[in-house]
Amino acid sequence: MLSKVLSRPATPEDIPLISALHDRVFGPGRFARTAYRVREQKGTGAEISRFCRLAASDDNRLIAALRMSEISIGGKKGAILLGPLVVAPEYAGQGYGRALVTEVIEAAKAAGLKLMVLVGDEPYYGRFGFKPVAPGTITFPGPVNPQRILALELESGALASFSGQISGR
Ligand SMILES: CC(C)(COP(=O)(O)OP(=O)(O)OC[C@H]1O[C@@H](n2cnc3c(N)ncnc32)[C@H](O)[C@@H]1OP(=O)(O)O)[C@@H](O)C(=O)NCCC(=O)NCCS
Repeated sequence: MLSKVLSRPATPEDIPLISALHDRVFGPGRFARTAYRVREQKGTGAEISRFCRLAASDDNRLIAALRMSEISIGGKKGAILLGPLVVAPEYAGQGYGRALVTEVIEAAKAAGLKLMVLVGDEPYYGRFGFKPVAPGTITFPGPVNPQRILALELESGALASFSGQISGR
């Protein structure tokens, strides 16, 4: 029988499973990713925010994980950083990535957050409404390709009120 897939908020107990999936998909260079640097600013480097989600089978095999970090931009709160999103290769292209992203967008809106930011592929994230940010408007504490900085307004017009460097604090 096929096991059922459940999507749920991630908990600190899920960190080893999520880290193992990141290792498998991204390899050992993953700590250089800027999303990890932003989380390091929070203290432990391994924090799970209330918005992190995962999809797992009912026998607890991890299928997809989406890390989310609440951030400030230029000292202003109300924004959230998406990433990394990782789907186990054998489950890619089956809608798990799309489902998790859709769920966190809804949750962030419901919580009153204003802006979601990520570094990623516009052809993938454009389908959720993410758009490129004008280069130089929003900057990261690590090296990122400015062409890949995308933002989604969770509240209409929010992008205009955020500029400056992203911080995990
Ligand atoms: C990229 C990734 C997150 C997508 O998740 P997924 O569950 O496989 O994708 P979904 O099933 O939600 O969506 C599939 C669709 O996205 C498209 N797609 C997948 N990756 C894409 C990319 N990088 N750019 C553009 N489109 C992409 C597929 O072609 C497919 O298109 P279709 O719906 O028109 O057929 C996943 O494949 C993955 O983990 N890849 C390796 C890690 C990675 O690159 N993560 C992103 C950086 S944070």
